[in-house]
Amino acid sequence: MIERIRTVRQVRQYTDEKIPDDVVKQLLRVAQWTGSARNAQPWHFVVVTDKDQLRKISRLRALINWLAAAPLGIAIVLDGENPMFESYDEGRVTERILIAAHALGFGGGVAWFGDDTHQAEAKRILGIPAERTARSIVMIGRPVSAKDPRPNAFRGGRRALSEIVSYERYSK
Ligand SMILES: Cc1cc2nc3c(=O)[nH]c(=O)nc-3n(C[C@H](O)[C@H](O)[C@H](O)COP(=O)(O)O)c2cc1C
Repeated sequence: MIERIRTVRQVRQYTDEKIPDDVVKQLLRVAQWTGSARNAQPWHFVVVTDKDQLRKISRLRALINWLAAAPLGIAIVLDGENPMFESYDEGRVTERILIAAHALGFGGGVAWFGDDTHQAEAKRILGIPAERTARSIVMIGRPVSAKDPRPNAFRGGRRALSEIVSYERYSK
């Protein structure tokens, strides 16, 4: 299990395989049971499989153009009442969905809608009320590769533990 969690990567290339309903249900149950500050559960999840909708979202920004080829996305909508807690809750639920997808033999990738204008447009496309917060959609599919296909891909890998950890007192 630990190795499964450690090897969760951002997947941006998927096969055309549809995500079975029972897999979607399992991912949503994992999302449902994610802990949130004060157990507020400040979220709503929009499951998107419609190709036309995905294509429209993918056109918001070049850095998320890969999402049009994914079979399914789960957009995370937050109540917008407590931005500090909700940012944390959003990260927690996103990561759990990614881990669960990986554990089930699928892969996932986060796509950030972009700045305020992009977010407003994403909300319009998905019918999300303007007063809610919607920043991202988690794409799910059967992975082809975890390589970043984008022209200006960020460097992969991770910094060494010795660089990012200290004991008893902070030292760098
Ligand atoms: C808040 C957040 C926003 C992200 N937005 C995007 C995005 O818009 N497009 C994208 O392709 N990847 C996005 N990513 C994925 C990161 O680029 C990825 O997690 C990172 O490069 C590490 O990838 P790896 O685990 O495959 O090494 C986002 C990740 C986070 C945490």
